[in-house]
Amino acid sequence: MNNYLNIDHVSITFPTDNGPLNVLKDVDLKVNQGEFISLIGHSGCGKSTVLNIVAGLLNATEGGVILEEKEVTEPGPDRAVVFQNHSLMPWLTVYDNVRLAVDQVFKKKKSKEERHRWTLHNLELVHMSHALDRKPGEISGGMKQRVGIARALAMEPKVLLMDEPFGALDSLTRTHMQDSLMEIQGRLNNTVIMITHDVDEAVLLSDRIIMMTNGPSATIGEVLDIDLPKPRNRLALAENPTYNHYRAEVVRFLHDRHHQPEYEEAEAVEPAENSENVVEALPLAASDSSRRGLKTVTPMPSTDRHSSDDKHLLTEEAS
Ligand SMILES: Nc1ncnc2c1ncn2[C@@H]1O[C@H](COP(=O)(O)OP(=O)(O)OP(=O)(O)O)[C@@H](O)[C@H]1O
Ligand SMILES: [Mg+2]
Repeated sequence: MNNYLNIDHVSITFPTDNGPLNVLKDVDLKVNQGEFISLIGHSGCGKSTVLNIVAGLLNATEGGVILEEKEVTEPGPDRAVVFQNHSLMPWLTVYDNVRLAVDQVFKKKKSKEERHRWTLHNLELVHMSHALDRKPGEISGGMKQRVGIARALAMEPKVLLMDEPFGALDSLTRTHMQDSLMEIQGRLNNTVIMITHDVDEAVLLSDRIIMMTNGPSATIGEVLDIDLPKPRNRLALAENPTYNHYRAEVVRFLHDRHHQPEYEEAEAVEPAENSENVVEALPLAASDSSRRGLKTVTPMPSTDRHSSDDKHLLTEEAS
């Protein structure tokens, strides 16, 4: 179905101590059912703000979001969000974290036994059946992220919203998570909007990549259709000229046309959400960007042969 999700001419202005700050201006995007969309753009341009508006956590100042002909005005189980820091309840087991969401969404529609089986099924999807009774503190970052994804999928949302879901993971775990997500999305045909800083991840997973201009007043700069057959295989694609063409297009957009604005250099260092993994995964070069106050990213996970300059494009280029 066309125009399943309509982000309709959205602008948002925040009041700040220095006066109103227009963060997004006229962001207009129609998403089809089952489509996988990536949002990519420099740090601070407004990607999370777009996602939060779709989630109903923020209200647009102008325009709005329509999902299946209904205006989004508040958060709801039809739009599940996976955050980068996997927000699980630390006092609940893996099973209970997912079961809680299942109970909330399906209390009236499924029996107790069905909810139990549905919880197990979704944890099986992300290969977490072996750790049902463990608490978040007893499992790794990648496992926590898988539970977060299971919880989101178990809600059977119309739209799955993911804000840098693998950003804090080491490159091997990240690769596995990308493969699992591709496989699950291929099977369930979920509609997904994912924010990423990772060019390879965006090209590998997406049907379309939405490239945002720098803020303030950020908007959609270019849209790239990724016309590669699915299921996709990262190793085969590494040698594929079409894949490399798409990749180069995104790099060109970020590097040539939308340089990181200078004011970002003055921003304070953001503490890493999941420092255990980030610190471990940071390449030596990234410590420079930390010193300059730029946000750090983990190394590109998938096609390691692209490990040259553009790997750290989103952090390094303001130098
Ligand atoms: N509630 C708010 N009040 C004021 N300013 C805000 C608010 N929320 C976000 N902003 C500003 O809006 C801009 C965009 O923020 P946002 O978090 O959407 O960026 P982003 O593209 O997700 O960045 P990153 O890649 O670093 O996560 C930033 O300048 C931020 O400071
Ligand atoms: Mg963000």
